[in-house]
Amino acid sequence: MAKHIASARISTESSALLKELNDSLPFDRELYREDIAGSKAHAAMLKEQGIISPEDYEAIVSGLERILGEIEAGEFDFDRGDEDIHMAIERRLTELVGEAGKRLHTARSRNDQVALDFRMYVLRKDREIAALLLDLIEVLLRRAREHTATLLPGMTHLQHAQPINLGYHLTAYAAMFRRDWERFTDSARRNNRSPLGCAALAGTPHPIDRRMSANALGFEWPTLNCLDTVSDRDFALEILFNIATMMMHISRLSEELILWSTSEFAFVRLADEHATGSSIMPQKKNPDIPELLRGKTGRAYGNLMALLTVMKGLPLAYNKDTQEDKEGVFDSVRTAELSLRVLAEMIDRMEIDTEAMERACMRGHLSATDLADWLVRERGIPFRDAYHIVGKAVNFAEERGKDISELGAEELAEVDARIAPEACAILDNRASMNARSSEGGTATVRTEEQIETMEKWLSSVRSEE
Ligand code: ARG
Repeated sequence: MAKHIASARISTESSALLKELNDSLPFDRELYREDIAGSKAHAAMLKEQGIISPEDYEAIVSGLERILGEIEAGEFDFDRGDEDIHMAIERRLTELVGEAGKRLHTARSRNDQVALDFRMYVLRKDREIAALLLDLIEVLLRRAREHTATLLPGMTHLQHAQPINLGYHLTAYAAMFRRDWERFTDSARRNNRSPLGCAALAGTPHPIDRRMSANALGFEWPTLNCLDTVSDRDFALEILFNIATMMMHISRLSEELILWSTSEFAFVRLADEHATGSSIMPQKKNPDIPELLRGKTGRAYGNLMALLTVMKGLPLAYNKDTQEDKEGVFDSVRTAELSLRVLAEMIDRMEIDTEAMERACMRGHLSATDLADWLVRERGIPFRDAYHIVGKAVNFAEERGKDISELGAEELAEVDARIAPEACAILDNRASMNARSSEGGTATVRTEEQIETMEKWLSSVRSEE
């Protein structure tokens, strides 16, 4: 049985089961840095406003610094039955500096304290994940640069569609991850408001200065309305959504890497250090890493749904349900950080079989659309008729076990007299890829242009970091 430390009114001991349900220390200890930084800023403001004495302030700060050192050295006693990280640090502070420690909580409540700590943690992670995204984008662009002329079958419905180049494919992912970066950066900007000083729900009669503590902690402003602030968890939902969307992108890329490393595709070979063996089949090299990244996307979605559901019925203001906000966020953040690091390393080191990719382009009549376009352009044939003529050419090629791009001028003339010898050249897969030179298209020059745009963006955001 442990004593209620956070209550003056409840004199009975709390049941062990209640403590197990109620205590958040086992997981919210992750917030110790933010809790200590928040308390230091709060104490400085209390001193400036004449609410605590300079001596008490000095004692509080030196006590908090000592606690920070104890936690970082693994010497802090987390097993004293404290309810949460806020109570644990306050309890230790009072042990260390006596009376002064008890004055720290003036004009503050754990409601604004937890809102502050958690928001600071989430903003820090928004920025750290954004930085990891830049590293991944850099790797993708580097590999894209190497392969702007490497032919790859572009697909729709997972069927061969039109020839593209590998650099174009990788740049598509770089563009997705750039939007993810923008979402994290945007969330960090929008939520850059300090909850500190909101107290329990309605503000405080003490003459505090919220702007002072907000600035000291690196926030742009204090939040507008205290009632909203102590119960708002939008910032946490945003990081969960941003991670879920980013993991969806990671999962799609992983799925392609899994397909591409099968013997059917054999477009890429993951580095040995990124593949695992089978315990029974000695010949196997399994793509466990991309499979795990694809699998971990599930928990990122789950964490988002869980918090949306926790929040949906809560009346204003703070409710203990809100304590359920943390574990899912910690889990999603860990998943996101690890996934980004692993994916960047895997893309960086994987071997690409450009010949296998180019060979694959010789199946599926990838340049068929080019012939139809040529008939429309050069022969004035309506597109639907051209489409049927090309259909005949495809059948003709199939019957001879060839790809349409391998048909000679005479064979094409046999299909339809209107297909002149010049049409042979446009059936070449590389010519077909380079013909798609409209803005945003796959032509090597357009791909290079896109990579360059992304590189410029990358170096401009890097220089602002
Ligand atoms: N551990 C609590 C949480 O994470 C801190 C806030 C407690 N406030 C309260 N009024 N019981 O939400």
